[in-house]
Amino acid sequence: MPLLSSGAGVVTTRGDVHYVVTEYGIAYLHGKNIRERAMALINIAHPKFRTTLLEEAKRLNYAYPDQILPKDGVVYPDYYFWQFKLSDGREVHFRPIRMVDEEKLRRFFYSLRQEDVYYRFMGLVKTLSHSQAQPLVVLDYEEKFAIVGTIGEEPDDEIVAIGRWFLDRPTNRAEVAFTVLPDWQNKGIGRFLLQNLVSVAQRKGIRGFTAEVLAENKKMLRVFTRSGFNTKTKLEYGVYSVEFDFDRANANEFNPDY
Ligand SMILES: CC(C)(COP(=O)(O)OP(=O)(O)OC[C@H]1O[C@@H](n2cnc3c(N)ncnc32)[C@H](O)[C@@H]1OP(=O)(O)O)[C@@H](O)C(=O)NCCC(=O)NCCS
Repeated sequence: MPLLSSGAGVVTTRGDVHYVVTEYGIAYLHGKNIRERAMALINIAHPKFRTTLLEEAKRLNYAYPDQILPKDGVVYPDYYFWQFKLSDGREVHFRPIRMVDEEKLRRFFYSLRQEDVYYRFMGLVKTLSHSQAQPLVVLDYEEKFAIVGTIGEEPDDEIVAIGRWFLDRPTNRAEVAFTVLPDWQNKGIGRFLLQNLVSVAQRKGIRGFTAEVLAENKKMLRVFTRSGFNTKTKLEYGVYSVEFDFDRANANEFNPDY
């Protein structure tokens, strides 16, 4: 039901509701704007009603006109979660990205240095609009998968790292990419993300990973060479094409912590 009927009794105000829980998850509403609230609630509604709720939210200007939902039948894989303890004792929590992470993803993007953006996107990307961010958070978790590393407690957690892969069906290899916030780099997070992206991909029967890495991006190249897999690289026009398969002999060197 997108709206209360006229004259319906309301015993608590919007500002007093911090959480709404259904069998599909928890919507964190406190401190959120109306668009974020609408999307958080749609995200935990019964999948059968999500499209209608989104249409109604658009009609009321509570959602972007081009907002999309995950494809029918896509269920958020909440059984994937990991923790990583840094050498300084701090903990980073990892989980698959969610549709409602869009604002957090934007904050993450705008906290990156120009150099990191350049390494990640191989160009000077200055802004991350809704239409650019949306396909990065609305995933099917089969062909597109992303893990975020967060600090703090939900709903006020912040993204400090992202690793993602996109499957190329014809080759059954997925292209992988990573970004870690500057203050969190060189602490093993890139390596941890790669291990767990591999684990998820292996479970889905994916054969291996590919990546495009700028030749001067020594940290990223180091993460791949330390992966334990036999990486093949080809350098062309200042960009390394990296490729490796998760064959059994090498995959044993990975020790995912679940
Ligand atoms: C590349 C990136 C994802 C790596 O993440 P990270 O969390 O810093 O990675 P890790 O800490 O696991 O590993 C970094 C490795 O690089 C090494 N390193 C750091 N600076 C280096 C340098 N100048 N030359 C060579 N190696 C270097 C570190 O010592 C570490 O290796 P080690 O584990 O053997 O000690 C991160 O730096 C980043 O987000 N960069 C900007 C975006 C980007 O380049 N994305 C990749 C696009 S494919």
